[in-house]
Amino acid sequence: MPEKNIEACILAAGMGTRMRSNRPKVLQRLAGRPLLAHLLDTLDALEPSRIHVVIGEGSELIQAAFPDAKNVNWVMQTERLGTGHAVMQAATHFSPGSHVIMLLGDAPLISVDTLTTMAQMDCDLGVLTVDMKDPCNYGRIVRDVNGNVTAIVEERDATVEQKAIQEINTGGMVAKASLLSHWLTSLDCKNDQREYLLTDIVAIAANAGCKVSAYKTSEVTEVTGINTFEQLASLEKEHQGRNALKLMEQGVHIIDPSRFDLRGEVKVGKDIVIDINVILEGKVVLEDGVTIGANCIIKDSKIGRNTVIKSNSVIDETIVEADCSVGPFARLRPGTHLKKAVAVGNFVEVKKSTLGEGSKASHLAYLGDSTIGTSVNIGAGTITCNYDGVSKHETHIEDNVFVGSNASLVAPVTIGEGSTIGAGSTITRDVEGNVLAVSRGRQKIISHWQRPAKKSLKKDRPGKK
Ligand code: UD1
Ligand code: CA
Repeated sequence: MPEKNIEACILAAGMGTRMRSNRPKVLQRLAGRPLLAHLLDTLDALEPSRIHVVIGEGSELIQAAFPDAKNVNWVMQTERLGTGHAVMQAATHFSPGSHVIMLLGDAPLISVDTLTTMAQMDCDLGVLTVDMKDPCNYGRIVRDVNGNVTAIVEERDATVEQKAIQEINTGGMVAKASLLSHWLTSLDCKNDQREYLLTDIVAIAANAGCKVSAYKTSEVTEVTGINTFEQLASLEKEHQGRNALKLMEQGVHIIDPSRFDLRGEVKVGKDIVIDINVILEGKVVLEDGVTIGANCIIKDSKIGRNTVIKSNSVIDETIVEADCSVGPFARLRPGTHLKKAVAVGNFVEVKKSTLGEGSKASHLAYLGDSTIGTSVNIGAGTITCNYDGVSKHETHIEDNVFVGSNASLVAPVTIGEGSTIGAGSTITRDVEGNVLAVSRGRQKIISHWQRPAKKSLKKDRPGKK
């Protein structure tokens, strides 16, 4: 980590007019998280002493979205008078000896490496630049005959020759706080936009004989800014492609990287196979040999060795241990824990429940607020009736219980070890161990029963022949 005292200043006061949204631009989501969250996380690695975030319209929404943002100093920019004006609002908070890294809130994918390089630049003012095939709408980097950076010229103020320059301003800059504050006092708004442009500090610094350097990155994705949903979508695609590539490099077999989404972090073991349209969200752990079928969503969960998650399953805040089989079409809700070799099949919903080793709920069941022992069989259509309209109650099913199909277990209730519940039973009281509990009407046989017959249709009904 750099020894300099680093502060950061993120410009995030824009509403992103070009997105036509009621939401501040930095709250738009990339990979499932607000743009600003990406920047704050990446900056964290640099251990800056403070992060000043300049906000304006929708500031309450932004602050509310980051209730635990330690180290963030929210700075209000009530009038949006340009990027230079935005930094001016933060400047009074800079500590004199520090180096300030300035970033645009709408460019979320800058890397720790790039930030570290910027922090280590030996100059008074450093500018992060990149070559763009189509530099249209960006500020152009103007250099003198010796290659020294002398100015940044915005598209609207650029001459025809300047417009041909392909090296552009990414918006990332680093400067000594005391000099920066001084340069900012010289800014004016004599430009086509009538704004205080941060980019003008480059010419101000260069003219004052200060050392201005550029660090040109080749990572266009890292510095791509978002102004429209179209740009957001293409950055998302690019970002997801990279996520998939990184995982493949770690040995994960992703069947189609263009149909894989990571919206958080995943820790992977070996020999994992991920079929198409899988979304991993939050913090996910996949141990060796896990297979995930098509169209699964797995969020904040841990999947144990050799477990198979079959297609169309949705898993949230769940621990699935080794050798389990889940799905197709299973839903595991928060607080679920499947121990070793559990099978949860199609159209089974489990919430806040533990299933012991080797237990099975193969089809069409709801298991909520329940503790289920080892080697239990839950028949199709079984429901734990955990809610009485006011409170939730628990169901305990001990080891080796066999619950027949279509049973309703009205909680709170305990089914003792080794017992059997007859199909179609409604169990309202505790069942002791090793018994058969049946509660259903006895079957009656009515002989010679005549089923009602339909009257024959009239032949001359209109429209019928
Ligand atoms: C800016 C740069 C341009 C660069 C481009 C890279 C300036 C003058 N121009 O242009 O050189 O090539 O980014 O993407 O800096 N903001 C505020 N307060 C304001 C104005 C803007 O906080 O008063 C924030 C916005 O929320 C945004 C960022 O600053 O996050 C950049 O503003 P934007 O208007 O998008 O600048 P660009 O026209 O993209
Ligand atoms: Ca922009």
